[in-house]
Amino acid sequence: MANVTVVDHPLVQHKLTLMRDKNTSTAGFRRLLREVSLLLCYEVTRDLELTNVNIETPLTDMSAPVIAGKKLVFASILRAGNGLLEGMLDLVPSARVAHVGLYRDHKTLEAIEYYFKAPEDISDRLVVVVDPMLATANSATAAIDKLKERGANNIRFLCLLAAPEGIEAFAASQPDVPIFTAAIDSHLNDKGYIVPGLGDAGDRMYGTK
Ligand code: PRP
Ligand code: URA
Repeated sequence: MANVTVVDHPLVQHKLTLMRDKNTSTAGFRRLLREVSLLLCYEVTRDLELTNVNIETPLTDMSAPVIAGKKLVFASILRAGNGLLEGMLDLVPSARVAHVGLYRDHKTLEAIEYYFKAPEDISDRLVVVVDPMLATANSATAAIDKLKERGANNIRFLCLLAAPEGIEAFAASQPDVPIFTAAIDSHLNDKGYIVPGLGDAGDRMYGTK
């Protein structure tokens, strides 16, 4: 059984509809993705543990909550993951960042790795892997396998759109990793695109098609 949270906040759903619209410009798409990433980041961090520290307000001493434990790691699956990453770093500026460069082979839909750089000590940290699209789940699985090889053991996956086929494959290969998504769409087409979807997220973000 997949562990999936659908972030159904009205602002997320409204902005997602604007992003799906093929008439939305590259600049508009990028701005909306940044805005949505703030709202998704809020949800994916909702249950983080707190600890109290002693501070002084202008009026008195107090014991007040801060996030416990080591800084988070945000792992962006290039290219499109960077559209989520930037907004998330606005909310959690002290997060460490991993970059995993992957592209889909258009024929086989396998994920081809071309870059990997992660903080050394990811085993003690919550790692939030970000990519707008979970289609076949080949990219997310390859990225998470690599992060696990490097010691990550507390991982969440955050996306904008997920296909049912991708959720099923992901749950089978990464049963310990919860998924957070803004929507679950109908299906994948014969080219591996999410339907109704929003097209190729990287191309729409960067205007490359
Ligand atoms: C897109 C998307 C995901 C992947 C999802 O990346 O950003 O990484 O496809 O598909 P999957 O679940 O079937 O693996 P793409 O390969 O187009 O690369 P890009 O981000 O560089 O455009
Ligand atoms: N990658 C995308 O960018 N879009 C899809 O629909 C599927 C994979």
